[in-house]
Amino acid sequence: MQILQDKKIVLGISGGIAAYKTPELVRRLKEQGADVRVVMTQSAKAFTTPLTLQALSGNAVADSLLDTQAELAMGHIELAKWADLVLIAPATAEIIARIACGMANDLLTTLCLATSATIALAPAMNQQMWHAQATQANIKTLNERGNQIWGPGSGEQACGDIGLGRMLEVDELVSLSSDFFADKYLEDQHWVITAGPTREAIDPVRYISNHSSGKMGYAIAHAALRAGAKVTLISGPVTINAPIGCQLISVNSAEEMHQQALKFAPKCTTFIACAAVADYRVAKIADHKIKKTNDAMQLELIRNHDIVADVASLSTKPFIVGFAAETQNVEHYARGKLMRKNLDLIAANDVAKSGQGFNSDDNALTLFSAIDKTEIPLANKQIIAQQLVALINQHYLAKHN
Ligand code: C5P
Repeated sequence: MQILQDKKIVLGISGGIAAYKTPELVRRLKEQGADVRVVMTQSAKAFTTPLTLQALSGNAVADSLLDTQAELAMGHIELAKWADLVLIAPATAEIIARIACGMANDLLTTLCLATSATIALAPAMNQQMWHAQATQANIKTLNERGNQIWGPGSGEQACGDIGLGRMLEVDELVSLSSDFFADKYLEDQHWVITAGPTREAIDPVRYISNHSSGKMGYAIAHAALRAGAKVTLISGPVTINAPIGCQLISVNSAEEMHQQALKFAPKCTTFIACAAVADYRVAKIADHKIKKTNDAMQLELIRNHDIVADVASLSTKPFIVGFAAETQNVEHYARGKLMRKNLDLIAANDVAKSGQGFNSDDNALTLFSAIDKTEIPLANKQIIAQQLVALINQHYLAKHN
């Protein structure tokens, strides 16, 4: 069953240009099984129409506190009690200010005061308005009161400015809505995850690296966040966005990743080594670009620290999961690494098989502990990650109870 199935979402739309995206947002939430009721401010109607939103939501759109007909159908207090989640998208600087002040001068603000459901706001405004002290103070107040702030994103704005203030994309809002309702079984846990490749410099312009896209590690970070964990993602250079809500520590080399991993690992409950760490680095990085004067050149390479093995030898060590990407004898090599690196679990995959593993959107894993083995069949990395996170937690609980 889809997580949003039968969830009751009040979508509050305030008057910003990003309101033109809300018909699509309603359509996508409905597609996931949610029951959506739209509330619009007067200025929102300048950007999108009640008729469109009514047609897509399948429910009458509410836009007035003093409408006798609407109050008869589903009054504002009833609507406030009905909601499992109030999502305000776009949330302009103005509606943010009015909600932070506790005003009740239209239907949407009144509903926010009257609801016991969580209110999630997706800010959308000019970057200067977002950075304004007043807006930041209002956001801080709303955060402290337990409201959720989803975004804003960064990029080009309708006014031509570039910066923070864009409403998150519809996909991201649907994903955050679904995450909101997911079971928070990792609420007390802090996961540290290494992901992506590392880059080992040869000279100021060249480096040695590998094909890791970071997708698996990022999917695990998202799945752990969704299950309520605090997540620190230590990532090598990748081209994908970190999941919203994680603490991202960007690194380049294996040595930087090692340093950051040893800084965060002693404080976490669970350490996932998903990064494709370069085994060797260049012994002496040239200060200047190396010129091609000879037909052949030699580089002296020295071994990098084994990050996950060093985490496993900490005196206060977390629950540790490693990865083994193999092209043959998968079980044999994976079990060898599990023992040698002193891990609790190892997730192995056969990277020789096409359509899975490195750079792919799909994966299939086998999870080995010292005593058992569980298969996670081929699926999208997001789905694999959710299953893997749940399995890791089962092993974690078995060890700690
Ligand atoms: O030895 P191998 O590289 O195959 O081991 C893979 C596992 O060890 C992965 O979990 C990887 O993230 C981790 N690793 C590490 N530091 C290294 C090399 C590998 O943490 N220098």
